[in-house]
Amino acid sequence: MDETDSSTTTTGLPSDRGGKDLGVFMPMANGGWILSSTTPTLDGSYAYNRQVARLAEQGGLDFIMAMAKWRGFGGHTEHWRRSLESQLLMAALAEATQRVKVWATVHTLLQNPAVTAKMIATLDHISGGRAGLNVVTGSFKDEFEQMGAWREDVDHDQRYDLADEWVQVVKRLWTEPTVNFDGRYFQMKDCQSDPKPLAHPHPFLVCAGTSPKGMQFTVDRMDAIFLGGSDLADLTAKSRQAKAMAAASGRSIKTYSMINLVLGDTDSDAQAREARYRDGFDEGAFHGMLRAYGFLDAEIGKENAFTRKARTGFIAEHVVGAPATVSAHLIRMLNECQLDGLMLIFPDYLEGLPLFSAQILPRLRARFPERA
Ligand SMILES: Cc1cc2nc3c(=O)[nH]c(=O)nc-3n(C[C@H](O)[C@H](O)[C@H](O)COP(=O)(O)O)c2cc1C
Repeated sequence: MDETDSSTTTTGLPSDRGGKDLGVFMPMANGGWILSSTTPTLDGSYAYNRQVARLAEQGGLDFIMAMAKWRGFGGHTEHWRRSLESQLLMAALAEATQRVKVWATVHTLLQNPAVTAKMIATLDHISGGRAGLNVVTGSFKDEFEQMGAWREDVDHDQRYDLADEWVQVVKRLWTEPTVNFDGRYFQMKDCQSDPKPLAHPHPFLVCAGTSPKGMQFTVDRMDAIFLGGSDLADLTAKSRQAKAMAAASGRSIKTYSMINLVLGDTDSDAQAREARYRDGFDEGAFHGMLRAYGFLDAEIGKENAFTRKARTGFIAEHVVGAPATVSAHLIRMLNECQLDGLMLIFPDYLEGLPLFSAQILPRLRARFPERA
């Protein structure tokens, strides 16, 4: 475990005060989280993202987060081909907002930890202490091979060993005047990084390590973990497991999950929308996504539990219904699965986010109030 950082980070987020952390996964790559040609257009543009950030802030959400993506999935929709750079996007959105936390994503395989320490410290200064970092190792070979950055000598679990050294260096640069570090993957010699971030002990750190090695890294080094599950029972088990693993390391960890909200005026209206999105399923992009997830070409046409579920075109878990139905589901998720927060996705953010803020968020805040 991380001996230097066993304390709980004070994030200023509601769940520190008993509420739940509710945020938005920014639509910074075209196509959003449905592989389909019949969804509302998400162009991944800066103008759209700025509108979304302001709606999230005005609507009372707690954070906005942008993924890091360097190569799309292909298909006739060219899914995620056009993606904005995560840290620059969040720096701009920090200026466009005053209150929401702004979390950027960095691949440990790509970006030197001293560069990251300074960039996220800069984001923390721009935002007045609202910066956070989603740490990802990078596992989509084509995404890194295209720029000569794939490491054949570093396998999946070793990429977490690399990330572990990386995050130790970043945390030390954020808190120490000078850093000497002689690791297997990184060497720092009298390395300096000032100014320090405003947040104490450091900006919020989150990771979605879901493999055993990825979860261990996350519970040992991060402030929060993103978890998925095949159903609520599975998600509950993972949330409990993450908290138990953190406790065993003398730490605590927040558990989050992400979910796509397909909203309608009525349940049947929402179901009709979902059916319409499924009609435009982009098989080519789906194959590209499977390749990105590490499936070999020979396996891609085959049926298994994962491909049967994912063939709907929905990349993330989704819930379909009128605001009351969706509220009830989210309350169940947060309560039964003992989650500390949710990151939301919408097929159409400009329509869905205001509806969420007006009709769903008040129900969630009433059910999970913050302590004074
Ligand atoms: C909410 C969420 C956000 C993620 N963001 C990114 C990202 O921005 N870039 C990326 O390459 N992978 C991203 N991932 C993938 C994870 O970092 C991770 O690699 C994946 O969950 C598999 O876990 P493992 O690395 O332990 O095998 C994300 C996953 C989730 C659930």
